[in-house]
Amino acid sequence: MTNALPPALESALQSLIHGTPLGPLSFRAQAISKAYRAGSGSKAAVQTGQDVLAYALTRMPATFAAIDDVLDQALLAWPEFSPKTILDLGTGPGTGAWACASRWPELDQIVLLDRHGPFQEFAKKLLAIAPFTSLTQAKQVVQDLAQPGPALAPADLVLAAYVLAELEQAAIYSIIRQAMGAARGLLVVIEPGTPQGYQRLMIARQTLIDMGARILAPCPHQHACLIVAPDWCRFAARLQRSRSHRTTKGVEAAFEDEPYAYLVATLADGGSPKPARIIGPPSRSKIGIALKLCQDQKIETVTIPSRDRTASAHARRLKWGDGYDGPRT
Ligand SMILES: C[S@@+](CC[C@H](N)C(=O)[O-])C[C@H]1O[C@@H](n2cnc3c(N)ncnc32)[C@H](O)[C@@H]1O
Repeated sequence: MTNALPPALESALQSLIHGTPLGPLSFRAQAISKAYRAGSGSKAAVQTGQDVLAYALTRMPATFAAIDDVLDQALLAWPEFSPKTILDLGTGPGTGAWACASRWPELDQIVLLDRHGPFQEFAKKLLAIAPFTSLTQAKQVVQDLAQPGPALAPADLVLAAYVLAELEQAAIYSIIRQAMGAARGLLVVIEPGTPQGYQRLMIARQTLIDMGARILAPCPHQHACLIVAPDWCRFAARLQRSRSHRTTKGVEAAFEDEPYAYLVATLADGGSPKPARIIGPPSRSKIGIALKLCQDQKIETVTIPSRDRTASAHARRLKWGDGYDGPRT
């Protein structure tokens, strides 16, 4: 499936960039991307209002698409989950808050937490022109998660998207414990789909399991991860690029793939992991469709034979990242 920003967010963004020449933004977008790739945090990479605009045009659609994909998987693991309150940690321009409000327009409260002034100021402007009360009335909290501070406000869904990358390893343990402790329902953690992002999630995963949480997705089990280096667990969200996205990024293609890695965890009773997960792009041949599956005790590639019409019709609709309940008979 190809994701696009919801029209309300796209039009809010367009109204904030109205009249801004895209040339200089393109230059800043490239510098920001280079800085993030080199391991800089947002404080160093995104310093001015222009920088935030460049981030919002070129990174926000990708992080939004990853968040949206992960929320899909969270709901497949726990279909009855229906949050009323959201805490978006390291919200940046408000990406997670918008993804949640677009999915659940009747939310009671959204809290956007970030330590970085330029992101908070931009998020505020975007919230002011949002079409949902949950966004126009959302609460913004300026807090540095890596410093001692007030306890996190409990929420049904706590989200930390693309934040761990900016923290020291020692801070990851503590922030994951605090975030899970604040989550009355689900904690969703998303990182770039790189080996480093995956490693950070493995630290988070063990911390969560040690505190008694259950991993609902993507893992079908609670044992140590079975994926062996140099491989790592990641998925990809395909997203449409708007014209301003393409111009700012200086690219032609109408879509891009955002690799991401994630965890959905809970301390509550609801939900259950899928029995297996497709951890690579399905490959088709005359013989059938081969699915690389992460299962309870093993990783194996299972081929659904073409001669089995029902099972293979079902398998054709499956994609990388989907949960797998077994062949359809
Ligand atoms: C790469 S941006 C991701 C923004 C947003 N979650 C998204 O997915 O588009 C990382 C965000 O985490 C915030 N952040 C990093 N370290 C933080 C900390 N110690 N306390 C609070 N926010 C932090 C940054 O200021 C930045 O807004």
